Amino acid sequence: MKSDGKKHLLVVDDEPVILQILKAVFEEEPWKLTLVGAGIEAKRIIEQEHVDLLLTDKNLPDVNGMELLRIAKQKEPLTEVIILTGYGSLETALAAIELDAFDYVLKPLNNVFDIRKKVRQAFAKQDVSLENRRLIAALREKNGALEAALEETRALQAELIQSEKLAGIGTLAAGIAHEISSPLFGIMGLAEAIADEQDLPLAQSYAREIVEYCRTVRDIVVELSSYSRAATNEYLTTVELSRVVLDAIRLVERSGDTSGVNFETNLEPDLHVHARTNELQQVFVNLVKNATESVREGAPAGSGVVRVSAGRTGNHVWITVSDNGAGIEADKQKLIFDPFYTTKAPGKGTGLGLNIVYRIVTKYRGAIHVESAPGKGATFDLRFPIER
Ligand SMILES: Nc1ncnc2c1ncn2[C@@H]1O[C@H](COP(=O)(O)OP(=O)(O)OP(=O)(O)O)[C@@H](O)[C@H]1O
Ligand SMILES: [Mg+2]
Repeated sequence: MKSDGKKHLLVVDDEPVILQILKAVFEEEPWKLTLVGAGIEAKRIIEQEHVDLLLTDKNLPDVNGMELLRIAKQKEPLTEVIILTGYGSLETALAAIELDAFDYVLKPLNNVFDIRKKVRQAFAKQDVSLENRRLIAALREKNGALEAALEETRALQAELIQSEKLAGIGTLAAGIAHEISSPLFGIMGLAEAIADEQDLPLAQSYAREIVEYCRTVRDIVVELSSYSRAATNEYLTTVELSRVVLDAIRLVERSGDTSGVNFETNLEPDLHVHARTNELQQVFVNLVKNATESVREGAPAGSGVVRVSAGRTGNHVWITVSDNGAGIEADKQKLIFDPFYTTKAPGKGTGLGLNIVYRIVTKYRGAIHVESAPGKGATFDLRFPIER
């Protein structure tokens, strides 16, 4: 379509009478009308101007109508063409349709209204084609924008995965530091005691405990180096629960201020979990340490109790670690296993303890739940499947 919005109709015929008639037919229409009598002139217009519809005689003495059709379609495939032809050339007219002409009109022109109707139909068809072309272009553009957005999302995702990995390494490193700090405190306390100890056998027993703590630290480091091989079970053993629990309590007593806190245990003998000893110890050290911290904060002085019980039901071993400390509000209970969630003063807690606990417990197909209410203390319930 022309930029002024009018359709351009080019009529070509070497018979002046026909041009005369067609001029009368189209004059009143809201189209730009060009009438020419020679093929060569029509060719020039097609090549230099924009033509929406070519209505041409098939048999022109110079450039033939079929050639004009070809040129017009080549320049703009959406140009519509209607061929004027005598009765004798009906077959050629059909061939023109094959060549993508819109229609043909037979001469002599008996029904001029029919010609006008055909031209209008051709324009209507062209409008539909133009609209389709516009829609396809818009779709392509949208598609391009979508592809760009997709590409951007992919890049972002890759970035996210990378930062997740980094965060994972950070969590791991912080976790290691957290786990090493407990035995380290024990070692420090014992070393200080040895420095002042005159009683040699007692100093020797402290030294042996230091060796035990060092083993714990070494195990943690070994575990770090085997982190990527977590699926293998080379360090798995059958762990005696009561021993691990008692060790954990001892470790907590040693590494912090537990004055005024009473530790109680009620542990069925011969309970076993198939796991790494060191990891189970991490679980109970963290639970007992949290309980102790909560009791020291929330229970009246001297009345604090941290109780660890364990037993067996069906094919499960269960353990509860309970305290009568400050307790946990209901809406906070689902957060406490998240890494870095802590309510402790800055520098006092990393918020990694329970996250480590959770990861170890679930790794051994166990489960952990908390039951608590503010001022009512907290109970952590754990269960592990008994291996057959
Ligand atoms: N027995 C408990 N009683 C009350 N609140 C608890 C208890 N155990 C955990 N919490 C709450 O859960 C939070 C997270 O515990 P978690 O062991 O993961 O980290 P943390 O104890 O704060 O820090 P860290 O373990 O490094 O010392 C604690 O800050 C505390 O608010
Ligand atoms: Mg903790």
